[in-house]
Amino acid sequence: MKTQAQPDSLRVVHTGGEHDPRTEIPALGFKDYWYPVIPVNKIRKRKPARVRLLGVDLCIFRGKSGPAAISNVCPHRGVSLSDGDCHFAGTVSCPYHGWTFDEDGVVVGILSEGPDSPAAGRAQVRTYPTTVIRGQVFAWMGDGPPTNPEDDLPPEFFDESCISLTNRRTWKTNWRQALENMNDNHVFYTHINSVQVLLRPVPKISFKGAKPYITGSGITLSHYSDDTLNTRPYQEEYPGLGLWPKHRYRLTWTWLFKHPPLSWIPNLSKGRYQTSSDAAKFNEGTDAFEREWNQGPNMPGMMRINMGDLLFTRWCVPVEDRLTRLYYFYTTRPRHKLSELWIRAVKHPLIYKLLHDRNLGQQDGDILENARYDMPERMTAFDIETLAWRRLAILSSRYGGRHDLIPQERIDRINGVSRDPETSADPVPEAPAGVSPDGASKEVPIPVG
Ligand code: FES
Ligand SMILES: [Fe+2]
Repeated sequence: MKTQAQPDSLRVVHTGGEHDPRTEIPALGFKDYWYPVIPVNKIRKRKPARVRLLGVDLCIFRGKSGPAAISNVCPHRGVSLSDGDCHFAGTVSCPYHGWTFDEDGVVVGILSEGPDSPAAGRAQVRTYPTTVIRGQVFAWMGDGPPTNPEDDLPPEFFDESCISLTNRRTWKTNWRQALENMNDNHVFYTHINSVQVLLRPVPKISFKGAKPYITGSGITLSHYSDDTLNTRPYQEEYPGLGLWPKHRYRLTWTWLFKHPPLSWIPNLSKGRYQTSSDAAKFNEGTDAFEREWNQGPNMPGMMRINMGDLLFTRWCVPVEDRLTRLYYFYTTRPRHKLSELWIRAVKHPLIYKLLHDRNLGQQDGDILENARYDMPERMTAFDIETLAWRRLAILSSRYGGRHDLIPQERIDRINGVSRDPETSADPVPEAPAGVSPDGASKEVPIPVG
């Protein structure tokens, strides 16, 4: 029989045995949040759109007061409403018998039965509250009343001096695995043959001494590199194996892309592509645990990277058990109109969408397609951000499915913060099983197999 872990024991790594802590993170996502659904300009005038997220099909059409999202299942005989048409402004009609729904989900007419059909006005489908931000339709997927979007979405989405360029892609994996693909040192290895890394190798990073903090709805590390590995030579000797990388030919042309005029091609921004202590300026200054919306994973499924002049958010939207829609937001503040034009016309299609999301990002997507999420794991200290994310997600799950329902004392204890001078808080955040509290990799067994 499956046993629920005690509220005070927080295991985030599956080491075998009955209870796999990952199963506490809902496989189809956290419901009580806003999710990006579709660009508003993709909603046609006469045809509804079908978008699946969190295992639910939504029928999206132009309502009277803006984009409408209703359940896609016709309450008459179960036909897909998004296969229908929008004959009348603000409505959608089912393709089977013409039941016609308004933005409140109410049947306002039955086109096959005549204007006097008694069923009109009597049936209703579920509606999902929507809002449009940055040209994207967001839907509230929870059962209760929606939160204020400004409380739940990254603040730069509401900053009028910024522009957000978006993209969407699909990975055949569960959203949890898609999200857990984040800031670790896989980049140097996995992406070694991606165009961007071929043009300019990324530094090797390690996280020694880094502490994860819960900051509002997210996790951030005290630092994203200890700067010890990024000074290592490009090739290193692995005992019993030989040199890795095996060849140096990739370095032949990298000088060309180090500085202007071509340095913009391998880099998403003027900051470095991969996070390092000097790129992550966002993480310096005030106490880490007081800052919200930092770099790092965020509820309900965002991965954020701060590159100084560019904020990158990859939102892993659950579609089905093994299908995730990655919704990308690149938010930046152009210095002038010409630079905005350059970003929109050149950087967005070529660097963000093609080189980063498709060429480099799909390498992760392909790897995760056949990855297991139900076997015991052996983590190392390099997995620190993933483990910290799980801690936040599991706690959110246990406290009603929202990060802001976790008691503050619990968060303070994890962050090693004492708000009461009388109380001495535990200065060391709880270490997940398999990771030493100080993050020292030498104390952690290397995973085998
Ligand atoms: S099934 Fe939709 S109108 Fe009949
Ligand atoms: Fe990656």
